Amino acid sequence: MDQIQFRRHRRLRKTAAIRSMVRETHLRPEDFIYPLFIVEGENKKNEISSMPGVFQISLDLIKNEIDEIAALGIPAVILFGVPDEKDDCGSGAYVDHGIVQEATKVIKEHAPDMLVAADTCLCEYTDHGHCGVIKDSYVQNDESLELLVKTAVSQAKAGADIIAPSNMMDGFVAAIRKGLDEAGFHDIPIMSYAVKYSSAFYGPFREAANSTPQFGDRKTYQMDPANRLEALREAASDMEEGADMLIVKPALSYMDIIREVRNEFNAPIVAYNVSGEYSLVKAAAQNGWVDEKAIVMEMLTGMKRAGADMIITYFAKDAAKWLG
Ligand code: PBG
Repeated sequence: MDQIQFRRHRRLRKTAAIRSMVRETHLRPEDFIYPLFIVEGENKKNEISSMPGVFQISLDLIKNEIDEIAALGIPAVILFGVPDEKDDCGSGAYVDHGIVQEATKVIKEHAPDMLVAADTCLCEYTDHGHCGVIKDSYVQNDESLELLVKTAVSQAKAGADIIAPSNMMDGFVAAIRKGLDEAGFHDIPIMSYAVKYSSAFYGPFREAANSTPQFGDRKTYQMDPANRLEALREAASDMEEGADMLIVKPALSYMDIIREVRNEFNAPIVAYNVSGEYSLVKAAAQNGWVDEKAIVMEMLTGMKRAGADMIITYFAKDAAKWLG
């Protein structure tokens, strides 16, 4: 064999020590944001049937949950409210004693260092399950913005550290930035769901958040999975409007988009490892078909390698344990 020339890549893979030394991407518990679903009532811990290991919890159980998350080194949670009452304009999203507002107060009082991101959307609070106000069977952009601004301001008043608008109305970052600034919240960052595809991977979340649209779909406001240039336009407008961080969602089928957004924009990039991605892994793991730990760590590492700085994931607690 000594007549041919080739490069010996395997030199750097020979032992665990050298593999570790040349490893390019590292997962840390600090990278994770853990989603929490808050329900009304007391002593409720309802497992979501399509998401084994993920629960809707009531306000009185939040402190324990936060202690567990903090002990694992996870710095942030993102809150979703699951209210008992819904109406056509989603008023539960912006009333002072709304479920997310109350949960935020409890968390910030109990654990001031835990970062609370509030998902700012209406779909969990509207009886029709759409993310905005409906007229003539169409989700109205500008009217929905007003309600979204009210929601964001009330979340900030309750103590939220980060506002995470997800309803995909045009101009939501500009409107929320203006609303927050006028209310004196200049220092509250916006983590925008800048690139959010209309995805079948949100199915289990809609069970968790009880937010399935009662008619139609979200295709007039969420993006077509086939589009890449549109993602860059969405991210560009959110940056111009004042977004501080950009979310790409879902993650696994959109790794190319995470990379492009990372390359194009100078802002922290967040990958949302969504509910359906969680459920796929859980189902296969429960059948003994895949090695759950290895699969999860490979997926999360892939998201960081693709360019994500942070990952919103239902696996946050498991992954932090495995890392620890
Ligand atoms: C609210 C919202 C959704 C998700 C996050 N925020 C659902 C949707 O748009 O239908 C999905 C998250 C997940 O699937 O894990 N609009």
